[in-house]
Amino acid sequence: MIKRFNFSPIINTGAVVKELPYDSGNPVPFTLKNNAFSLDMDAKTRIYGLGETVRGINKRGWIYESWCTDEPFHNEDKRSLYGAHNFILVDGKERFGAFFDTPGKITFDLGYTDSDRIVITPESFALDLYIVTGDSLKAIVAEFRALIGKSYIPPLWAFGYGQSRWGYVTEKDIRECADNYEKAGIPLDMLYLDIDYMDSFKDFSVHPERFPDLKAFAAEMKERGIRLIPIIDAAVKKQDGYSVYDEGHEKGYFCKDENGEDFVVGVWPGKSVLPDFLNPEAARWFGMKYKALTDRGIEGFWNDMNEPALFYSEKGMDHAIDEVKKLDGGELDSLRFFGVRDVLIKLQNNADDYKSFYHNAPEGKFRHYDVHNLYGYNMTKSAYDALCELRDEPSLLFSRASYIGAHRYGGVWTGDNHAWWKHILQSLQQMPGMNMCGFLYSGSDIGGFNGNCTRDLLIRWMSFAVFTPLMRNHSAFGTRRQEAFAFGDTEAFRHIIGLRYRLIPYLYSEFVKAAENDAMFFRPLAFDYEEDEIVATVEDQLMVGDSMMIAPVYVQNAVGRHVYLPEKMEQIRMHEGYISTEELNTGWHYVDIPLGDVVFFTKSPIPLAKPAMNTSELDLENVEFI
Ligand code: NOJ
Repeated sequence: MIKRFNFSPIINTGAVVKELPYDSGNPVPFTLKNNAFSLDMDAKTRIYGLGETVRGINKRGWIYESWCTDEPFHNEDKRSLYGAHNFILVDGKERFGAFFDTPGKITFDLGYTDSDRIVITPESFALDLYIVTGDSLKAIVAEFRALIGKSYIPPLWAFGYGQSRWGYVTEKDIRECADNYEKAGIPLDMLYLDIDYMDSFKDFSVHPERFPDLKAFAAEMKERGIRLIPIIDAAVKKQDGYSVYDEGHEKGYFCKDENGEDFVVGVWPGKSVLPDFLNPEAARWFGMKYKALTDRGIEGFWNDMNEPALFYSEKGMDHAIDEVKKLDGGELDSLRFFGVRDVLIKLQNNADDYKSFYHNAPEGKFRHYDVHNLYGYNMTKSAYDALCELRDEPSLLFSRASYIGAHRYGGVWTGDNHAWWKHILQSLQQMPGMNMCGFLYSGSDIGGFNGNCTRDLLIRWMSFAVFTPLMRNHSAFGTRRQEAFAFGDTEAFRHIIGLRYRLIPYLYSEFVKAAENDAMFFRPLAFDYEEDEIVATVEDQLMVGDSMMIAPVYVQNAVGRHVYLPEKMEQIRMHEGYISTEELNTGWHYVDIPLGDVVFFTKSPIPLAKPAMNTSELDLENVEFI
């Protein structure tokens, strides 16, 4: 059952697809005091949800802020990442879900200030609150998901393996990468184009020398079973003569400052302007620009920098330059040095900048700061709507920033993680929270985006990521190369990525089932075994679809791990070259998992396809069951 409470929303966020009447009275079980929703917890209360956030599956014990943020360090002291997913599921004396549908900042203090109290404080009370109840944790999620609408289902090929790197600059770099995969006999379905394919980082342009004929190149790659997936950034270069800028400027489609002038920011292309995705006309206009690439045979995109990430604003930079100038000739004592350094650091993603520009939405004019969390969502929607018009087939689409509702239009990747062992676990722990909020097509940058990856880290990360719907290896400019062929010996990678393809019949059907039934593809064990006291504390295993449980290794130099089985299961061990199975009883087990073995557990037989080098070679008719 869902109850909806009205706190004067200022805008229809679009998160919800079902129109519900308002309930009157207090939004029980919360108490409303001091402009916050609060609730006492007993020792056993657990809290799930909040989508893409740091820390564990049980969110209790930390404070989170929903504020889409370009955050390059996903450490446990962070409060916000790229998504704003305001749904929590409280499992305690009372068991209920709560969705705070508000476009601005909202803080979830889940036992941080007072370890036995939840305190949820929206910055503005312009919100709708939905309280969801049901017979089980899964039933509450299903009820909530029916409220927010069906999850995006990507084409089957998007379940193939993808290679990406910010650093492939030319057609030659991409071709070489495809050749190396082919030489190593490692399957591949997608190669991603990062910002360097563009001309001066201008959206919808293609660099004339680096990719002289993208259409022919995309066809050449497709012939080899590989699709090219270009990035699209939110900000548009401010340059007279660049048609996207000229048109958008003339039509008033960019966000405006207080004087009605285009608000100028600095992002990859240098001085740029921000499309007003909250204005449906502007959103449609931007979305239809993807045609420049779909006309060249492109079938999928990743949308980036759409929190929106701001390196600086023109106005902030002018101020910073004045401050730096003041140093000239004066004594550079440490206070002045740190003062100026802070001025420069604070240029990035500055709240004052978010307060200085405006949207022209159907409900009226809004200050960006008050509707910040809707920006990335509306960029995804604009692309999705246009791609449905531009293409007859489903497209691949995923985004960095998101708000609940965006799950209907695309997936999300979890942004700029690090080549750290703890980020394997973090990725695992993020998945169920995102699934609760509808984001089923998701995955992390395998191997880590920042920092230098090692062979063993990549093997372990992939051994987990074979189960994530989005399986993409991506890394940053200047880091150590981490393609599956980059560490010399390719055997383990051929085996693990090969296994992913064999698992696609299971993974894709379970994914589609989850999307159609408003269910979760990844579930904490506690959702399937509510009566089992132990599973509530298991934070490093997940149920995957109806029949499978995973327990990956995420510790350096480990050769196995403890695994908890909530019921009797079959342990499936995929060695290089052969499969072995063993029935294991309920309870704790120490399981050997040498580097390169992929181990998972099943409750019922699962289909396994024959090996394939890409999804177009997959034989979905003739599968064996293990
Ligand atoms: C930030 C994104 O998170 C990252 O994946 C991408 O490589 C860089 N932008 C450059 O486009």
